[in-house]
Amino acid sequence: MEIIHVSAECYPVAKAGGLGDVVGALPKYQNELGHLAKVVMPMYKTPFLYEHEFDVVHKGSFAMGHSWINYTIIKEKTNDLGFDLYLIDINGLLDRQKVYGYDDDIERFTSFQIAVVDWLSKWNHRPDVVHVHDHHAGLVPFMMQNCFAYKHLATVPTVLTIHNAQYQGWMGWDKGSYLPAWDGNNWGKLDWKNNINPLASAVKCVLRVTTVSPSYLEELRYNSNGLEALFEYEKGKCSGIINGIDDLVWNPELDKYIATQFGIDDVDEGKLSNKEVLCKEYGLDINKPLIVFIGRLVDEKGADLLPRAISDAIYHMQGKMNFLVLGSGDFWVERQLEDMKSGLMGYYNSKIGYNEKLSHQMYAGADFLLMPSRVEPCGLNQLYALRYGTVPIVRSTGGLKDTVIDYGIPDGSGYGIRFNDATVGDITYSIHRAVQLYSQPKRLDEVRVKMMQIDNSWEISTGKYVDLYKSLQ
Ligand code: ADP
Ligand code: GLC
Repeated sequence: MEIIHVSAECYPVAKAGGLGDVVGALPKYQNELGHLAKVVMPMYKTPFLYEHEFDVVHKGSFAMGHSWINYTIIKEKTNDLGFDLYLIDINGLLDRQKVYGYDDDIERFTSFQIAVVDWLSKWNHRPDVVHVHDHHAGLVPFMMQNCFAYKHLATVPTVLTIHNAQYQGWMGWDKGSYLPAWDGNNWGKLDWKNNINPLASAVKCVLRVTTVSPSYLEELRYNSNGLEALFEYEKGKCSGIINGIDDLVWNPELDKYIATQFGIDDVDEGKLSNKEVLCKEYGLDINKPLIVFIGRLVDEKGADLLPRAISDAIYHMQGKMNFLVLGSGDFWVERQLEDMKSGLMGYYNSKIGYNEKLSHQMYAGADFLLMPSRVEPCGLNQLYALRYGTVPIVRSTGGLKDTVIDYGIPDGSGYGIRFNDATVGDITYSIHRAVQLYSQPKRLDEVRVKMMQIDNSWEISTGKYVDLYKSLQ
């Protein structure tokens, strides 16, 4: 089957979070099964662009409101990524260094989506599935079905994967004129509560919706930032497929980013040697359990709770553990995490910013990874932690609930630490349990081996996506 993935991110081209990891991996594994999966995304000014060569495959133009937009599609030459990569170049709008965060993001991603559909409509063959990811690609199904110029795409099956329903791409109805002439009778397919809502529109228009874990799908029906009734109504076409991890990128035996590679047989030595590198660099004590946080510093991830939880844990448990935080996001959280450093030197350190290499070193060298997420559609951090023998400490929500079992459950099948509430109290109690586990080396060792044996590879989930596409043919 020929599958076109439409996304704002794709690792290693451009990544702001887990969406990039998934779109960089899923097509590769679909191709390994004998399909023809391709990715189309915006052309940003990221290092990948300058390190690779491209062919121009299409040039086109369209009107967006009062602007006339020219676009160029370039295709990566080598196919090194394991799939065909198409980048959409729109001068002045998409060619920026960051993926998101600009005042004109609405214009940027609307123009990207129009260019995708315009290009698809000019191809002289039809793909078997157009698979859109999150709200940045959410208007694509509507345009394929309702814009007069693109009506011949209306019968191409479309699938939406929701990685995060907190962000929906809302825009006022004044932006309705941005879209190429469309059938006004169908305005209801764009609308949610008097705004154009690209995510809601995709849920309405696609044949199938998937979420990145089954538990997240359940949660959306009562907590989805205003879309609860829609998910209840459309539940018949929704299913949850858990993410996998890309074993070619996230494998402690091969990982080129980490100081010492290791596998199940030498996990203790391997982790210790990686921990040493981190402790030296960040002034921490190698003999204490090292607890890390890696991620976006936003409320969704419970990052605002970190400063209090870390200082409380250090003070109330007499500094029996060390912390290292890597992340960027809310200004006030960043500032607090930086300001705490001087008072907690030797117990806590942080690195504000985005650093792919350091994140790998932290998964490898840490003993525990903390994820106090309020919302977690799937979560990849805990999957990477499991693969690198790092015990995840997670709040029981979304994908975290589906992938981590508490080590304390009586049948002995568990391997992580789970807590119920995103509160400082629940977090510090879980840290206390982590310190206890660390003080029992034999038990910790058993847990590490068990975690590293879990198969969270993409193979299983890729098969589920392919079955879903087949049901639409
Ligand atoms: P989300 O996509 O919601 O941010 P995920 O757990 O799915 O959460 O994925 C986060 C991805 O982004 C992981 O690959 C993680 O290692 C990476 N990541 C997040 N913040 C940083 C950072 N500051 N530096 C490096 N990698 C980061
Ligand atoms: C989103 C979610 C995260 C998920 C990722 C990849 O960013 O917040 O939980 O793992 O997408 O699907």
